[in-house]
Amino acid sequence: MNLTLKIWRQKNAASPGKLIAYPINGIEGDMSFLEMLDVLNQELIAKGEEPVVFDHDCREGICGSCSLQINGEPHGPDRMVTTCQLHMRMFNDGDTIVIEPFRANAFPVVKDLMIDRSAFDRIQQAGGYISVNTSGNTIDANTIPVPKNDADASFNAATCIGCGACVAACKNASAMLFTSAKVSQFALLPQGRVEATERVLNMVRQMDLEGFGNCTNTGACEVECPKGISLENIARLNREYLSASIKG
Ligand code: SF4
Ligand code: FES
Repeated sequence: MNLTLKIWRQKNAASPGKLIAYPINGIEGDMSFLEMLDVLNQELIAKGEEPVVFDHDCREGICGSCSLQINGEPHGPDRMVTTCQLHMRMFNDGDTIVIEPFRANAFPVVKDLMIDRSAFDRIQQAGGYISVNTSGNTIDANTIPVPKNDADASFNAATCIGCGACVAACKNASAMLFTSAKVSQFALLPQGRVEATERVLNMVRQMDLEGFGNCTNTGACEVECPKGISLENIARLNREYLSASIKG
C-alpha cells in the first residue's frame, strides 16, 4: 500500500503543534500500525530528519502505552484492540491517515504523539490498592471464598490497561471509566471492602483535581475501550460513591 500520513508534530508542551504530511510506500497489510511508524522513522532518520516520537512498550496490548488517535478514533478503526495490535490491512491503498495524540487537558503533550498520562498514576495512588501486611506466612489464596460471578466481574475490571482511550473518546474528557474499573476491581472482593469508603472518595477527589471532565453517559468510552470495560463499572462507582458520601 502507498499511503499519506498526516502526523501531529509538536516540539514540547509549550510549543504550538501542527499536522505534517508524509508519503509512505510499500506498507504490507500484515504490518502493525507501530511497525508502519517504525518504517517511517527509519526513512526520516536516513534523510537526517527528526523521527516521530510515539509511546510504546509491550506491543501486545498489555501495557497501555501506545495511545494514538487515528482518523479521529482512539486506537483506530478496529474494535477491542490497542494501536500496537491494529493491522494495516484495516486501511486501503491510497488512504490518508491522520495521526494525533490523545486530546485532554489532563494529558499534556510531551512531544509529537507522546502524552503525559501520570494523572492516571496519581488517581491509582490515591486508593487503587489494598493495604496488607506482607511479612510472615503467605495466606492461601482460597482462605476467603469469593463468589464466581464477583471474581469474574472483578477480573474483568482489572483488565483495564490504563491506556486513556476512554478519556480521548469522551467529549468531556472524563476519566470515569478508568476510575470505575480501578474502584470496581476491589469493591467486588472481600479484601477490598475494608478500605472501600476511603478508596472511592479519594480516587474520585483525585480524578476531579486532575481536571478530567464529568460523565454525561454518552457511552463513547465503552465503545472505544480496547479491553471492553463495561459502563456497569461506572454505575457501580456511582453507588459506591453515594454510599461512601453518606457514611463519610
Ligand atoms: S477503561 Fe479501557 S479505555 Fe479506559 S484506560 Fe482502561 S483499558 Fe483504556
Ligand atoms: S505497546 Fe503496550 S499496549 Fe500497545
